[in-house]
Amino acid sequence: MSNATNGAPPIGVGLLGMGNVGGGVAQILLSRVEEYARTVGRPLQIRRILVRDPDKARAVAVDPALLTKNPDDVFDDAGIHVIIEVIGGEEPAHAYLRRALESGRYVVTANKEVMAKFGPELLAVARARGVDILYEASVGGGIPLIAPLKRDLLANEITSIRAIINGTTNYILTRMAREGADYAVALKAAQDLGYAEPDPTNDVEGIDAAYKLAIMASLAFRTQVRPGDVFHEGITRLTARDFRYAAELGYAIKLLAIGRREDHAVQARVHPALVPLDAPLAKVDGVFNAVQVDGDLTGMVFFQGRGAGSMPTTSAVVGDLLNVAHGIAQGAPERFVWREDPAGAVLPMAEVRTRYYLRLRVADRAGVLAAITGVLGETYGISIASIIQKEMHEHDQTAELVIMTHEAREADMRAAIDRVASLEAVAGIGNFLRVEG
Ligand code: NAP
Ligand code: HSE
Repeated sequence: MSNATNGAPPIGVGLLGMGNVGGGVAQILLSRVEEYARTVGRPLQIRRILVRDPDKARAVAVDPALLTKNPDDVFDDAGIHVIIEVIGGEEPAHAYLRRALESGRYVVTANKEVMAKFGPELLAVARARGVDILYEASVGGGIPLIAPLKRDLLANEITSIRAIINGTTNYILTRMAREGADYAVALKAAQDLGYAEPDPTNDVEGIDAAYKLAIMASLAFRTQVRPGDVFHEGITRLTARDFRYAAELGYAIKLLAIGRREDHAVQARVHPALVPLDAPLAKVDGVFNAVQVDGDLTGMVFFQGRGAGSMPTTSAVVGDLLNVAHGIAQGAPERFVWREDPAGAVLPMAEVRTRYYLRLRVADRAGVLAAITGVLGETYGISIASIIQKEMHEHDQTAELVIMTHEAREADMRAAIDRVASLEAVAGIGNFLRVEG
């Protein structure tokens, strides 16, 4: 027990899950007892740890009597004031979080899926019970993002968020850019190193990033952005050729999560995008994450760091715990008050306006360019910024074109691409990507 707090009663902690993150949390709470007791004003005491298999060998040594597979051992312990959920996935994590709040406990979670899908509902339960749910670790691992959006940037009208918020895909894209590797080769390298899961779908299809964007955009724009509202497109269609052409044009390719305030709605989208090579986001490589927030008072603010990993994520979880425990020790924990903007609809992707990169193969003969620019310009009103003929394929007398457009509406661009693809002189659409910044 702590010497730092003159016999003050401990604040009891229940830990749900003791894997990568939970193991880090247990290790740090058990090794920094005195420091944290001084910070909080009362000692912290882990009283129970819920796991699937209490008999499993664990990297972090804890008293075996703390481990249980019966959730009631945590929820029925009146000495537990704060419950930390680091199980992950939707269920039973969601049910446990709800039960914890309904029982009047403060809650800390690292669970992006549950917070993206059920965050507003859980915050409402917390409010009704006079407690709170903190979720700094759910986005960007060790990078402080939720607290700045909730608190430090509150005076601003946030105009946009642009983020590299998935380390696995940023690692894959970095390998593709540096080595000229194709997607499948870079994915295999990421899997061999343990960055990508054996089933990488959530990461490579932009689903994980969409969860994180839904959480950030809801806070930044004070509206409820649900995961289903977020357009997401993954990285699987990218080729080494797209990286080569993008670099020649002065761009990197990144999987971006973009939230933007419009007049009466917000944009929320995740997709690969061309980013100018001199932009800060273009220089964020490997497994690192970065979030660029633009506020009307602050201007651009840039957060960068490790978006995953046991200790960076533990930093965020334990930071939330210390804040809430300090509040409990003082008798007045700070609580976040959700204030929704009444004009908070999410703009359908079809209505989003952005610039485009279009790569296509065409017959190398007179009149073809005119036919394509006719469809884009005359039929759909899409203004072309540049056209470059990249490569000639002697065997079938086709050439590769890269077209960069000015800003256009997504629905128009998609319709124009369909029409262009149907032209007799067009051998195929290689790829089309959005351009950001
Ligand atoms: P993990 O290594 O898979 O650990 C999950 C833990 O939960 C294990 O201890 C497991 O028990 C326990 N568990 C799983 N299902 C359970 C159930 N039905 N009942 C009771 N216990 C159960 O996961 P993690 O990587 O630590 O991730 C935890 C959370 O942190 C997730 O929400 C994740 O998205 C988030 N997060 C993780 C990272 C990261 O770098 N890992 C970064 C940011 C956020 P056993 O040990 O007995 O199997
Ligand atoms: N799969 C996630 C990533 C882990 O690659 O960033 C952190 O949420």
